[in-house]
Amino acid sequence: MNYRHGYHAGNYADVLKHLVLVELLRLLTAKDKKLFVLDTHSGAGGYDLAAGPAMRTREAEAGIRRLMAMPRAGMPAAVVRYLAAVAAYDRKFGRGEGLRHYPGSPRLVRAALRPGDRFVACELHPQEALSLKREFAGDRAVEVRQADGYHALKALLPPVERRGLVMIDPPFEKTDEFETLSRGLKHALRRFATGCYAIWYPIKDEEAVAAFEETLAGFKVLILEARVNVVAEGKLGACGIAVINPPWTFQEAMAESLPWLAAPLDARLGLRSGFSVSSPTA
Ligand SMILES: C[S@@+](CC[C@H](N)C(=O)[O-])C[C@H]1O[C@@H](n2cnc3c(N)ncnc32)[C@H](O)[C@@H]1O
Repeated sequence: MNYRHGYHAGNYADVLKHLVLVELLRLLTAKDKKLFVLDTHSGAGGYDLAAGPAMRTREAEAGIRRLMAMPRAGMPAAVVRYLAAVAAYDRKFGRGEGLRHYPGSPRLVRAALRPGDRFVACELHPQEALSLKREFAGDRAVEVRQADGYHALKALLPPVERRGLVMIDPPFEKTDEFETLSRGLKHALRRFATGCYAIWYPIKDEEAVAAFEETLAGFKVLILEARVNVVAEGKLGACGIAVINPPWTFQEAMAESLPWLAAPLDARLGLRSGFSVSSPTA
C-alpha cells in the first residue's frame, strides 16, 4: 500500500468527486430523517496544500486553486456550495494568502452532518488512519476505523437508519481493484438496495470500466466523467463517478455544473443517465 492521497489532494478528480459528495450530502440531509454515512476509503481527512506531497506535485493548482480564484458571479450554485465547504475547512486554520488546507471526503461529510446522523470513516493504511484519528480526535460524531472498507460494506449495511450514503473511493493500486470493487458493491446492494452510493474510479482501461458498469445494470445510476485535455506524463487523464440511487434534483445540479467546469479545469466533463450515452461537453 503505497498510495497517499496527499499527492493528489485538490486535483481535478478531487474536484469532481467532492462536488458530487457535497451536493449528495446537501440533498440527503434536507429530509428530516436520520442519515447514515459510510466512507469506505477515507484517506487522511485533510491536506496541507503548501507542504509535503501536495507541494511536490502541485496538482491542486489546476484543480481547486484555479476554481477558488474565480469570481462567484455566474457560477453554478452547486459549485459555489462546494467552494464554500472547502473555504470553511480552510478557515479553521486561520486566515492566510489563498487556499492552503483542503478537506478530504471525511471532513466534507462531517461538515454536513446534523445531530443524530451517524458517520463511519474507514481507512486501512496505518499512517493515514492515524492522521484520520488525529483529525477527528474528541469528535464523537465521527467513528474512525482502521479497517478494510470492503469488509465494512458487509458489516455495516443495511444501517438501522434505513437511509444511507456510501462513498467508495479506492486507490486502484492493485490490478484487480475493479473486481474487488464490483464484488463488494454487489454484496452491498443486495443488503441495502435503496442506499445512495457514490463510487469513484480511474478511466485508464476502458474495458475494465465497461465491465464495472455492467455490474450496475438494473440500478438507477448516474455516471459522471471528467477527461482533462492535456495529460502530463504519468498522470491520470480521466476519471468517473457512478452515483447509484441519486436523490431528486441531483442530476439537474450536475448537468448545470459539469459543462461550466470544463473551462477552469481544462477538461471535458459529461453525464450519463442509466446506460444511454451522451458525449461529454467540449
Ligand atoms: C483515494 S484515497 C481516499 C481519498 C478520500 N476518499 C478523499 O476523497 O479525501 C484512497 C484511500 O484508501 C486507503 N485504502 C486502500 N485500501 C483500503 C481498504 N481496503 N479499505 C480502506 N481503505 C483503504 C488508502 O490508504 C487511501 O488512503
